[in-house]
Amino acid sequence: SSLRYPVICIDGPSGAGKGTVTWRLAQTLGYQLLDSGALYRIVGLKAFEAGLLNVDGEQSIDETALLALTQSLQIVFEPNIDSGRVDIIVNGAKIGEQVRNETVGGYASRVAVYPKVRQALLKLQQDMASQSGLVADGRDMGTVVFPDADVKVYLTASAKARAERRVAQLLQAGQAADFEAILATIKARDDRDENRATAPSKPAEDALVLDSSNLDADAVYELVKKHCQDQGICF
Ligand code: DC
Repeated sequence: SSLRYPVICIDGPSGAGKGTVTWRLAQTLGYQLLDSGALYRIVGLKAFEAGLLNVDGEQSIDETALLALTQSLQIVFEPNIDSGRVDIIVNGAKIGEQVRNETVGGYASRVAVYPKVRQALLKLQQDMASQSGLVADGRDMGTVVFPDADVKVYLTASAKARAERRVAQLLQAGQAADFEAILATIKARDDRDENRATAPSKPAEDALVLDSSNLDADAVYELVKKHCQDQGICF
C-alpha cells in the first residue's frame, strides 16, 4: 500500500551510543523500537544452548540446524521504562539480562554471518514498521532491512573510545575491566561484522555518518534530531 509510517535507522558498531539515541527518539516520537541486535543475540544464545556453537570459536555452524532453530523462536519486544531498553520475550518467556553481555554479543556476531538466519529474521523486522513509526537499531537497517527509510544514520566511534566507555561502565558497576582485552574483543567483533559477505555493517549511501568519539549522549541526540527534522520528521 502507499500508506507507510516513518522509519529511522540507526546503524553502527556496538558501543557507539546507538541504543541510547534509539531509545530516546522512540520515546520522544512515540515510535516503536527495533533492537535488531537483540534478535541475533537470542539466536546466538539459543544456538549456544543447543550445542551448535563449538567452543573454540571460528569453525562453521550447521546452517540448516541454525535456520530451524531461528524459525522456532517467537520473539516479542516490550519497552521497559526502568531499564531504558526493550525486554525480550521468547516463546512466552522473558530472557534474562545475560543476553546483553559481551559473550553473547560474540555468539550473535557468529550466527549473524549466515544468510539463512538473516533471511528468517527479515520479515519480523520489516513488519515492525507496519503499525506505527519505527526507530531501528542495528548494522544493516539502512542498507538491507529498510532501504527506503526516511532517515539513516551511521553512528560510529573509534574502537579506543568505545573500549574506554565500556571500561568506565564496568568499573561503575563494580566489575573488573581489562582495557586491552576489551579493545581486542571490540575489534574482533567489528572485523567480523564489517567483513562478512551478507549485509555487512556499513553506512548506507544516503546515511549521515556521525562519529561520537568526542561527543556525549546529549550532543549525539541533538545532532540526530536535527538530521531527522531536516528529513521531515516532526518532533
Ligand atoms: O548491536 P548488538 O551488539 O546487540 O549486536 C550483536 C551482534 O548481532 C553484532 O555484533 C552483529 C549482529 N547484528 C547484525 O548482524 N545485524 C544487525 N542488524 C544487528 C546485529
